[in-house]
Amino acid sequence: AVGDGMDVYHQTIRVVDEEMLPGLRTSVYTYGSGFVGPTIRARSGRPVIVRRTNRLPVRTNTHLHGGHVPADSDGHPMALMEPGESRTYCYPNEQPGATLWYHDHAHVLEAEGVYRGLHGFYLLESEDERYLGLPSGCYDIPIMLTDAHFDANGKMIFITDDGGGRKTLLANGRPQPYFPVAARRYRFRLLNGSNMRIFRLNLGGQVMTQIGSDGGLLPEPVEQTEFVLAPAERIEIVIDFARYRRGTKLVLADGDRPVLRFDVQWEEEDYSRVPDTLRPLPRLSDGPTDRQITFTSNLKEHKFFIDGKTYDANRIDAWVERNSTEIWRITNADAAGFQHSMHLHLVQFRVLDRDGAPPWPGESGLKDTVLVPPNTSVRIKIPFDGYRGVYVYHCHMLDHSAFGGMMAQFQVT
Ligand code: C2O
Ligand code: CU
Ligand code: CU
Repeated sequence: AVGDGMDVYHQTIRVVDEEMLPGLRTSVYTYGSGFVGPTIRARSGRPVIVRRTNRLPVRTNTHLHGGHVPADSDGHPMALMEPGESRTYCYPNEQPGATLWYHDHAHVLEAEGVYRGLHGFYLLESEDERYLGLPSGCYDIPIMLTDAHFDANGKMIFITDDGGGRKTLLANGRPQPYFPVAARRYRFRLLNGSNMRIFRLNLGGQVMTQIGSDGGLLPEPVEQTEFVLAPAERIEIVIDFARYRRGTKLVLADGDRPVLRFDVQWEEEDYSRVPDTLRPLPRLSDGPTDRQITFTSNLKEHKFFIDGKTYDANRIDAWVERNSTEIWRITNADAAGFQHSMHLHLVQFRVLDRDGAPPWPGESGLKDTVLVPPNTSVRIKIPFDGYRGVYVYHCHMLDHSAFGGMMAQFQVT
């Protein structure tokens, strides 16, 4: 529906039956339709209103991951919809184009909620992006990557990841799908929607061009043969299938495990391109405050700590001033050797360095989630612009934040 200068949607959050493995049906949680929720397409500067109704047997709420959103629409883990309740979320879209993600964030329940399908793409487009000539329309394809555990009858079972039991890799909710493609350029928006899996994506050694990350287009494209994609991270890549003969099959794999296949099937004119410069980074103010954030764990109690504490909704862990810029140094000092990541609501930050060395290729743009491998530190620079209020920051390995307490809060004053 089109309102007055804004777009209005309604989503009913409910359980449906879906055929995820061939010929077998399982119940999934959805934003109305299927395992991957409907894609919301939005434009920078034009607000979107989403009215959501909870028809699940459990509580839920919805967070717009990567979105610059006022606190009352952010989907704070304690701002919940009970079964039968509705809630209206307002997204101002005052930020540049990006591949965003809406997902369940009900405290403790979000790990299972996201796993069962409560998530979808929110594609924000900036006007000026159109003039770059990147592949668009039906050549611009979002792909949600997740993993799951199915029993012998094809029922999706929720298990935590301790034993690495979520063995089936899913692309847009299906195991090893194939995409017939033309011999031309395509843009793919890959989102790691899994709770715990760090994807190492490759095309069998072939080069892919990364053009975007969490917060949208990179300043310049980066060519790579492998991408490390931690939970909640997004990359946008361009693959030029004109390099391959008709009949070629290219497998996108996680290490050596196939995720999906592209079949080059027909020739087509291609007027798209990948310019040498994509989007300049916004300027950041100076005078940053420095903070140290440290990750640790207690494996016996299955707790994961941010600065020695687990989540407490009644505690503010960091006070920040509105419109200030801060540098946070995040250290993974977890003696158990776990991977952790850092995600902050509200903001898009820059990665400054990793243990003093330059960030990984592809980390040159705007980010909202960053992987911090064991015994390393990452420094990020964060602009806290715009809205006041209480927001969370957490590890986005969702089993850690949901069950291990690995979450904290900042308040913008
Ligand atoms: Cu993807 Cu706190 O969120
Ligand atoms: Cu978020
Ligand atoms: Cu973690």
